[in-house]
Amino acid sequence: MVSRVIAVDSFDFVAFGGTGDLVRRKLLPGLYHRDRVGQIPAATRIVGVARAAMTDEAYRDLARAAIVDHVPEHEREDEVIERFVARLSYVAVDALGDGGWSDLAGVLAPEPDRIRVYYLATSPDLFGDICRRLAAAGLVTPTSRVVVEKPIGKSLASARVVNEAVGSVFAEAQIFRIDHYLGKETVQNLMALRFANALFEPLWNAARIDHVQITVAESLGVEGRAGYYDGAGALRDMVQNHMLQLLCLVAMEPPASLDADAVRDEKLKVLKALKPIGVADVPRVTVRGQYEKGAAADGPVPGYLEELGRPTSPTETFVALKVEIENWRWAGTPFYLRSGKRMAERVSEIVVSFRPIPHSVFDEAAGPILRNELVIRLQPDEGVKLYVMIKDPGPGGMRLIRVPLDMSFAETFAERHADAYERLIMDVVRGNQTLFMRRDEVEAAWSWIDPILEAWAASGEAPKVYRAGTWGPSASVALIERDGRTWHEDGA
Ligand code: BG6
Repeated sequence: MVSRVIAVDSFDFVAFGGTGDLVRRKLLPGLYHRDRVGQIPAATRIVGVARAAMTDEAYRDLARAAIVDHVPEHEREDEVIERFVARLSYVAVDALGDGGWSDLAGVLAPEPDRIRVYYLATSPDLFGDICRRLAAAGLVTPTSRVVVEKPIGKSLASARVVNEAVGSVFAEAQIFRIDHYLGKETVQNLMALRFANALFEPLWNAARIDHVQITVAESLGVEGRAGYYDGAGALRDMVQNHMLQLLCLVAMEPPASLDADAVRDEKLKVLKALKPIGVADVPRVTVRGQYEKGAAADGPVPGYLEELGRPTSPTETFVALKVEIENWRWAGTPFYLRSGKRMAERVSEIVVSFRPIPHSVFDEAAGPILRNELVIRLQPDEGVKLYVMIKDPGPGGMRLIRVPLDMSFAETFAERHADAYERLIMDVVRGNQTLFMRRDEVEAAWSWIDPILEAWAASGEAPKVYRAGTWGPSASVALIERDGRTWHEDGA
């Protein structure tokens, strides 16, 4: 299969937080990959912006190092690296003061009509100030776009403040709220599976689907991010954005087209149909956990509190929820969500579990008839498995076993997959907002999350402790088993 490279116009990419982790880990390597496949037009420029003084040459060195650290050796080509870093320059700008803005204006001035992407890879506290100063410096042109990273707020009220501030400078059509889960290959495949096949849609409802599970488990801990994470927790960090977006893509009605607003209108309807979780529901449908020291694949690892360096913290590093969608399609089909750090494995997947057959024609010797399940694996080993019952091959009468019809993307499509950020950056350049969150979506998600956070705070209960390297607190197993269901295990 030959990868298709869709041409884009030349653009200026301005990365605020230009020396930070996201830029070094994702944005510069991502742009390098796009350059390598020939998608970055010759005149395109990349401008790193941060507070410290730095020469262009030092910034190019930073980019070279980022590529060595984050691009596999067989994908590094000296000639492409040099072509890529030649596009780079650096401007020192004070996001909270006047310093440097005229220098940035000077760099951008020669190309006033070019597409400009202002990527705010900074603390969200700075989004408003940066936008206002961009406007004051006359840098917001009709072809400018701004990309904002999560977290957008910590609650509905604070999200509104951020949205207001950014929206006072940029029109909604210029604002790209990035959720990198939407750029993942398999997440987009979910739309292809649902809407490019006649097979699934007739079954895609509460009459045929028993329940859906969405798991995003990470084996890593909070690493160096404990400072940010402790003010957030798993519900804000993973559920409010990534997991609710996945839920929306599974649950939404077919949009009339893939037009950005057609898709986002449908996602918004799902968010608005989520059954509120209040104080009385919290003990039954939510579980919070916090990891203590335990073992990872490569040896013993510290607990969350040790990483944080504090004796106590109310922050959850694990969350499990039973979510209900109050509409005709989904009433009676719960969605179980769980996400945690320092879990037994890194695995993100969506499991659609179908209802049992209405009547069995097989006798007991055939063994149990297990449900059909569609498993969409986001990472690692991206792919789709459809579990079906078949006859156990060979003699011995009719015995049934469940096996996966297995489509591993790595095996089927040998070529390299673009990383989520790469794909999303190019969508920004093209002005395609389909995979970005609209303001009302972000706010609807917070409207549903806020009462859960408030109910947790009101309960005063500490998160349940789980050992690092396990699947979270036992209460998460109880949450789903209470309903006569179990968390999916691969191969089960
Ligand atoms: C980020 C969260 O949005 O997503 C992190 O802030 C998390 O805490 C990360 O580790 C997970 O992303 P991925 O692509 O590695 O699953």
